[in-house]
Amino acid sequence: MDDLSTIRSEALGAVQQAADLAALEVARVAALGKKGSVTGLMKTLGGLAPDQRKEFGARVNQLKGEIEAALEARKGALSASALSARLVNEKIDVSLPTHPEGQGSLHPIGQVMDEVAAIFGEMGFTWADGPDIEDDWHNFTALNIPPDHPARQMQDTFYLPPRADGTPMVLRTHTSPVQARTMLDKNVQKMLADGGSLRIIVPGRTFRIDNDATHTPMFHQVEGLVIDRTTHMGHLKGCLVDFCRAFFEVDDLPLRFRPSYFPFTEPSAEVDIGCSWKDGELRIGAGDSWLEILGSGMVHPNVIANCGLDPAIYQGFAFGMGIDRIAMLKYGIPDLRSFFDSDLRWLRHYGFSALEWPSLTGGLGR
Ligand code: PHE
Repeated sequence: MDDLSTIRSEALGAVQQAADLAALEVARVAALGKKGSVTGLMKTLGGLAPDQRKEFGARVNQLKGEIEAALEARKGALSASALSARLVNEKIDVSLPTHPEGQGSLHPIGQVMDEVAAIFGEMGFTWADGPDIEDDWHNFTALNIPPDHPARQMQDTFYLPPRADGTPMVLRTHTSPVQARTMLDKNVQKMLADGGSLRIIVPGRTFRIDNDATHTPMFHQVEGLVIDRTTHMGHLKGCLVDFCRAFFEVDDLPLRFRPSYFPFTEPSAEVDIGCSWKDGELRIGAGDSWLEILGSGMVHPNVIANCGLDPAIYQGFAFGMGIDRIAMLKYGIPDLRSFFDSDLRWLRHYGFSALEWPSLTGGLGR
């Protein structure tokens, strides 16, 4: 009897005093574990007379239930206080000032590429890519500029060592080789044969041997190409007028199409936008001056044939525009070379928020 009440008060005392879950487990094992005090009492039952066993067994069982309930209750209390301790320790004071974090910005070139893509995207154009290191055939020959043709002189570039198979390589002088790459694509040819229409823009890097305030050896262009069975010069004009007015955000922007020459288009036109100079400041829009911004024309039948399409069936237009140039004009950036100086102060001034995506409905630039 005495045994039972001593064991009871010891076991319940240990449970009550357990300061954390580990101590509680020690108290549980001391009472109910294999070698625990209550388990020890159970083991003595076998040696008792039947009537004693019944009575004493019931009491031991009751004690066991009591200790289990106490363990459960203590466990609940300990977990709750552990949680409130964590809540106190891990509290975040949202009123504290934040650490200043550097905020990046988008380079005007990337911004303008996205603006151009937003406008042409609305007209059904998709974005196509090609390699910066191009073979001579795609860069020149396919575009109706055969080897030794004087027109190669217009676009002098960096010549690279030929490939192992002897293919001469260059840094591409324009984005036009992607015209050839796209027309030669079997899926594109199938789409055209099925009566579809090809519309791509190709924003990317280009290279020429030039270096002064308005020319850098690396610069950017965006090519445009439309091929189907019916697209004509009127579509070229309409498309470029719509583009320029949307891009420069001037609804009545005057455009001038000047006859020109490119080996890969016939007829060819250079496009100027109207502008004026006031107190040394350039204004895009009405005025009596013109600024050249792009070259364009109807794709030459030789180019269509070189790219595996029948020029008696297919026709279309192409254009090529200097991205750096239109970025300078739109955002009033005076020196082309500063684009590539990687000067953070310049980027902070001319850069764009990375979180504002240009769209025709949401707004293009700032
Ligand atoms: N590729 C030409 C250039 O870089 C521009 C152009 C593209 C002209 C497409 C006509 C058609 O000068």
